[in-house]
Amino acid sequence: MNHQNTCKADTAASAANATLTPAPTEHLPRHSTPPEQAYQMVKDETYPQTQPRLNLATFVTTYMDDYATKLMNEAISVNYIDETEYPRVAVMCGRCINIIANMWHTPEKSEWKCGAVGIGSSEACMLGGVAAWLRWKERRKAQGKPCDKPNLVVSSAFQVVWEKFCQLWQIEMRQVPISLEKPTLDAADALAVCDENTICIVPIAGVTWTGLNDDIAALDAALDKYNARTGYDIPIHVDAASGGFILPFIKPEEKWDFRLKWVYSISTSGHKYGLVYPGLGWVVWRDKKYLPKEMSFSVNYLGAAITQVGLNFSRPAAQILGQYYNFIRYGEEGYREIQQQSMAIAEYCHKRIGAMKCFHNYSTKVDNPLFIWYMDPEYDRTAKWTLYDLQATLQQSGWMVPAYTMPKAIEDMVVMRVVVRQGMTRDMADMLLADIEAAVAEFDKLKYPTTSRLAYEKREKQMGKVFTH
Ligand SMILES: Cc1ncc(COP(=O)(O)O)c(C=O)c1O
Repeated sequence: MNHQNTCKADTAASAANATLTPAPTEHLPRHSTPPEQAYQMVKDETYPQTQPRLNLATFVTTYMDDYATKLMNEAISVNYIDETEYPRVAVMCGRCINIIANMWHTPEKSEWKCGAVGIGSSEACMLGGVAAWLRWKERRKAQGKPCDKPNLVVSSAFQVVWEKFCQLWQIEMRQVPISLEKPTLDAADALAVCDENTICIVPIAGVTWTGLNDDIAALDAALDKYNARTGYDIPIHVDAASGGFILPFIKPEEKWDFRLKWVYSISTSGHKYGLVYPGLGWVVWRDKKYLPKEMSFSVNYLGAAITQVGLNFSRPAAQILGQYYNFIRYGEEGYREIQQQSMAIAEYCHKRIGAMKCFHNYSTKVDNPLFIWYMDPEYDRTAKWTLYDLQATLQQSGWMVPAYTMPKAIEDMVVMRVVVRQGMTRDMADMLLADIEAAVAEFDKLKYPTTSRLAYEKREKQMGKVFTH
């Protein structure tokens, strides 16, 4: 009995302590903390600010089925690099690379296709970029030419990874501006900024800012002529972070991959439309000869000689298991069905939003299950609100639909984006559209402009724009 009382007292007292203990922010706490209390403190910090399914800003997978989740949780302690302890993980990783390489029509005939796993598209893009840079360097050295001024050509709608790559490796980034007239990378404009120091051109399948695909076939055809005329060997690295798992299922006949002559490498995110929890990326080279030897490193202290290509050494194996599971579980038909559903919902939202008098879609096309729109220019002349106000209003109902300004050359343009992922239903789309319509109806009743509108008009007026209220 006493014991029970003591327990109660203890529980009450420690619970009180728990609620009064501040979270460590600068120094390691002096004492240890009971696990349940430590758990609660960390858990309390992780409450999501929006529901993952209502987060239409992210491209990254927030749903996997129970078996995938179980498999990945069971592998939480597995380090991919420990090949001697878990030899089959490396085999499954190799099989994933084979499957992806074949999905992208690799011409490579060997049993193991040439590729690498990354923590996301960022690592995969960097590996593709480094390989292009090293190949260029070797060619230049063999020709007795200087190698101190490499450059890379990409549209101004590049994802930040390319800025990181160019900064970290000290490569000049040559940006080809996109505009309303040229909404994707223009092949002629790209070639106009190429020269003997161009390590590669990076078209994007699934441009982060717009959802569109750069025309890679047109670029390849123009580049073929350009390389023949100049004697250069400028290759293409396709950043297919989103499109790499969409195009093969939605537009299998479209040539954007290794079916094109100058595509030497392609990267994608396993954790986007590969449908795996973060973080997972893949890069594949056309053939082993395009992966410079300097990029493979061997270590001998894990019980065998282990050769690896990657920026990281240790990395979680669970995502690789998740990817391999998805390949088995869904197969080609399953992936096609899931991607088609996402496309159908995106196209439905695109049509409905395009039909609203206050909005204008950026493109009439929906290449991937995501799209952007802006305020109709005529409506904008008298509107008392901005897309930032709409973002804030939608957030009150749990939706995360980001408003943002476009990249260089059209940076004064404010757009809004929806990314449709697996699990977004027609019913959810209708709820979103109803919430957008209700918000607009309220905005239309405003007598005075919102704070964000005032700031927007002030900025725009300085650039000569006229408003009619
Ligand atoms: C075109 C493109 N490239 C690269 C990345 C970086 O991908 P990750 O987040 O997988 O590193 C993204 C992410 O959105 C992207 O859209």
